[in-house]
Amino acid sequence: MKKIAVVGLGKLGLCSALCFAKSGYDVQGYDNSLNVIKHIKQKKFDNYEPKVLDYLKKEKKFKFSNDFKDILDSKIIFVIVPTPSKKNHEFSNKFIYSFLKNYTNFCNKKKNNKFHIVISSTVMPGSCSKFIKYIEKRTSLKIEKDFYLSYNPEFIALGNVIDDFLNPDLVLIGSTNLKATKELVNIYKNTVKSKNFNIMSLESAEITKIALNSFITLKISFANLLLRISQKFKNAKAEDIARAIGNDRRVSPYYFKPGLPFAGPCFPRDNEAFNYLQKIIKLKNKYITNAIINSNKEHINFLNKKILFLIKEKKYKNICIAGLAFKNNTSITERSYGLSLAELFKKNGIKFGIYEKNFNKKDIYSRKFFKHLIRRKDIKNFDYIINTYSLTLPKNKIPILDLWKI
Ligand SMILES: NC(=O)c1ccc[n+]([C@@H]2O[C@H](COP(=O)([O-])OP(=O)(O)OC[C@H]3O[C@@H](n4cnc5c(N)ncnc54)[C@H](O)[C@@H]3O)[C@@H](O)[C@H]2O)c1
Repeated sequence: MKKIAVVGLGKLGLCSALCFAKSGYDVQGYDNSLNVIKHIKQKKFDNYEPKVLDYLKKEKKFKFSNDFKDILDSKIIFVIVPTPSKKNHEFSNKFIYSFLKNYTNFCNKKKNNKFHIVISSTVMPGSCSKFIKYIEKRTSLKIEKDFYLSYNPEFIALGNVIDDFLNPDLVLIGSTNLKATKELVNIYKNTVKSKNFNIMSLESAEITKIALNSFITLKISFANLLLRISQKFKNAKAEDIARAIGNDRRVSPYYFKPGLPFAGPCFPRDNEAFNYLQKIIKLKNKYITNAIINSNKEHINFLNKKILFLIKEKKYKNICIAGLAFKNNTSITERSYGLSLAELFKKNGIKFGIYEKNFNKKDIYSRKFFKHLIRRKDIKNFDYIINTYSLTLPKNKIPILDLWKI
C-alpha cells in the first residue's frame, strides 16, 4: 500500500491520518506547530473529540513529526491546513501557499517521481487552478505530466469526526486526471464504507463543498422559521410541523429540527463564503444566502428575547447554562448559542453558571467564562436551567428550558 502524507494535524487532519492508518496505510503526519506535535506525542488532543485518543494510543502505522523532510518520500500528500475566513468572508489560502512554497523547494529534485497533492482544506472556488499555476511557476514541472492536484474536502461534523470520516454519505473528488482520481478512489475504497463517489472537475468540487454546507444552513434556518411562526399560534407546534415536512423524501428529516441557530466553525463561515462568492462573480443579487444569514441572526434575537422575557416573568435569579459548546461531544464553542447566551447574561447583569463537560480552558472563546464554570453536581444550586443541546442532566425539580424542545 502506498505511503500517505497528511499535512496539518488539527481537528480534521489528525482524524483523517488516523483513519487512513487504521485501514492499513503507512501514514506520515506533519504539522508545523511544535506544540501540536508535542501533544500528539503525549497522546493528547487539544479539543475534545470522541475516539481520537483511543485511535492514537493503538495506531502503529501513524508516524508524525515537525520535520518537513519526513513527508518527501510519500507520493500522495493530503493538505488539511486552516483556511481562515477574512473580514470579507472569503477563505484565506495563506497556509496552503506556505505549504506549497516549502514543498516546491524540493520538487525539482523529485523528477521522475510523480507526486499527487490532495487539497482537503475548504477553499474558495477557483483556488485549485491557482495552486496548480503556482507549482508550475515555481518549478519546471507540469500538471498531469509531472504531478497531480486534486480537491477532496470532507463532510464531517465535529463531535463525530472519526465516524463521519469512515461512514460518509458521499466522497467528493475534484480532479483533472483519471489516474489521480483512481488513486483517490482506491484509497477511499480501502478506508470508508461509502460507495457514493462523486467525481467532477476541480471547480465543481470547490463549489459543491460550500454549496452543500450553505444548503444545510438553509434547511436549519427554515426549520427555525417554523418555530418563530408557530409561536404566534396558540396551538401550533413547530416540532410536529417540521417532522411532517421532513417525512417527505424530497426534504428529509436531517438537520430539519427547530431549535438552535446554526453555529460552530464551519456552517456559518461556509455560508458567508458562498454568499461572498456571488459578489465576486458579480451575480446581481444574493437573496438566498443573505436571507439565511439574516434569518439566523433573527433567530438568535428571537431566542434571546424569549429567554429574557421568561427570566423576568418568573423572577429567576440564578441561571445555569447547560452546554457552552456549539453541540454535543465537542469542546468547540465558536459562534455557539451557549456563548451568545453567556454574553447576553453578562451584558444584562444576570447571575449565571455554565455547565460544560468538555470545557476547554485554552479555547479563546471559552476561557473568558472560566469563572462561571460549575460542576455537574452543582447544577442543583440554580433556579433555572437552559439546556442548549439536550444534555442528559441530573434529575431534579428545577425548571428546564430545552432549546431543542422549545
Ligand atoms: N474541523 C472541521 O469540522 C472541518 C470540517 C470540514 C472541513 N474543514 C476544513 O479543514 C481545514 C482544516 O480545519 P481544522 O479544523 O482541522 O483546522 P485546525 O486549525 O484544527 O488544524 C490545522 C492544523 O494545520 C497546522 N498547520 C497550519 N499551517 C501549516 C503548514 N503550513 N504546514 C503544516 N501544518 C500547518 C496547524 O498547526 C494545525 O494543527 C480547514 O480548511 C477547514 O475549513 C474542517
